[in-house]
Amino acid sequence: MDPHWWQSATIYQIYPRSFQDSDGNGIGDLAGITARLDYVAALGIDAIWISPIYPSPMADFGYDVADYCDVDPRFGTLADFDALLARAHDLGLRVLLDLVPNHSSDRHPWFAASRSSRADPQRSWYIWRDPAPDGGPPNNWISDFGGPAWAWDAATGQYYAHAFLPEQPDLNWREPGLRRAMYDAMRFWFDRGIDGFRIDVLWHMIKAADFPDNPPNPDYREGMGEMHKVLQLHSTDQPEVHGIAAEMRAIADGYAGDRVLIGEIYLPVPELMTYYGSDTAPEVHLPFNFQLIEARWDAATLAGIIAAYEAALPPGGWPNWVLGNHDRQRIASRIGQRQARVAAMLLLTLRGTPTLYYGDEIGLADVAIPAIQVQDPRELREPGIGLGRDPVRTPMPWDGSVGAGFTTGTPWLPINPDHAIRNVAAQSDDAASMLSLTRNLLVLRRRHAALRVGLIREIVGEDDVLRFEREHGGERFVIALNLSDEERRFTLPDHVELPQLLLSTVPEWRTGGEDCDGRTLPLAPNEGIILLDG
Ligand code: NOJ
Repeated sequence: MDPHWWQSATIYQIYPRSFQDSDGNGIGDLAGITARLDYVAALGIDAIWISPIYPSPMADFGYDVADYCDVDPRFGTLADFDALLARAHDLGLRVLLDLVPNHSSDRHPWFAASRSSRADPQRSWYIWRDPAPDGGPPNNWISDFGGPAWAWDAATGQYYAHAFLPEQPDLNWREPGLRRAMYDAMRFWFDRGIDGFRIDVLWHMIKAADFPDNPPNPDYREGMGEMHKVLQLHSTDQPEVHGIAAEMRAIADGYAGDRVLIGEIYLPVPELMTYYGSDTAPEVHLPFNFQLIEARWDAATLAGIIAAYEAALPPGGWPNWVLGNHDRQRIASRIGQRQARVAAMLLLTLRGTPTLYYGDEIGLADVAIPAIQVQDPRELREPGIGLGRDPVRTPMPWDGSVGAGFTTGTPWLPINPDHAIRNVAAQSDDAASMLSLTRNLLVLRRRHAALRVGLIREIVGEDDVLRFEREHGGERFVIALNLSDEERRFTLPDHVELPQLLLSTVPEWRTGGEDCDGRTLPLAPNEGIILLDG
């Protein structure tokens, strides 16, 4: 059977504020993205996911939605979106939007109605509770951004729930009217022609009906972030969330064109797997697999993770891998530039749909943000413990000019000071650059079905070398990644015959004079290689 497009696709995440500014206000926009789609297509990408573009007061930079069926004027108009979509489709790129169904903005008209009076018909669209007997919050739940997950509304004398900011009240998914309204919003965008959604915090969407206290987290340590003081046992991952995911899936499946749903879910693998749903009630096509973002970067750990994840997939469940996103430290900062090249090879040779975060293809690193320039509410609420996300959301450096080709104005976040050297233009013509490596990896992935949809086997992590094989239709690849900064050797398994080196992350080391001792092959420090068998 032919794979679905999203199985063989590579997805590219665009943070719209930081990709390309077209009007000089220092904030990226839709027309800017459209102007850069040729770059994205030429990189070898198949689909873009754009973080929220909806009207928003931007308390959480778009993850606080004030209207699910429009575009924020900072980003443009619906017509700009239609133009983006048309151009993307012309280029063979699919477009995914970010659905934020767990919470809205406190400026959404639904919330204005809900908080207007206890008798308002939309009161029940949000989660309102009476105070505890001492007048405090109804339970001990903590917001992911620190502080209680409840805000007091003096006018109506109740608390409302917010898993994130008080400006992001949680919607009540037990309320059929709300469900219908959000499903209508999904249809609005599907009708416009989008190819799918990434669903924000899917596992948060429904809470235990009786709102019990969450248990304390025995592993909590100072500096982890206040949210980790309790385990989110009753506030997330409730059985009823699967009904919502299945309803969303039915909506996507109701459209022609193979629309895809990707769920943002930070849960251990066994729980993550349940979000694929069942044959009779399928849920999201791809529950995001964030393990590479969180894993210790060593060969044995990674081999264990890959093998265990593969083994845990339900029948028909398609894998996926992510190396970075707008919430987590960039890979180049986490493991260094040399290993970032190895990581790119890993991401793009593993079995499953890869998601690449904008800028990672040029090795963009985190940017230290001076205190007075901090924008991220998470950093502002719990400063100084490394939770801020501004460093990973800085403008894309397109060239070495003052505004990096991103803006003619003042960028909303500082541009990486290394942008005069590390930028798309400089790397485009440099065969040794990270950008060229990424392109080459994507060319190989497109050329060889074994890399896109082949089996993965022989996953071994030994002596700092992670290796595995991909196989399809008589073609076999061996991928070997040296996760250390010293030379290493690895032994080819007996079934591999005469391998040909297709790609190295350290090509300059390979002069042909390396000491190859029969079936034992050398790897340069920080080198990843792709071998084609026979
Ligand atoms: C997850 C998003 O990725 C993050 O950026 C956002 O702050 C929260 N959800 C709240 O929507």
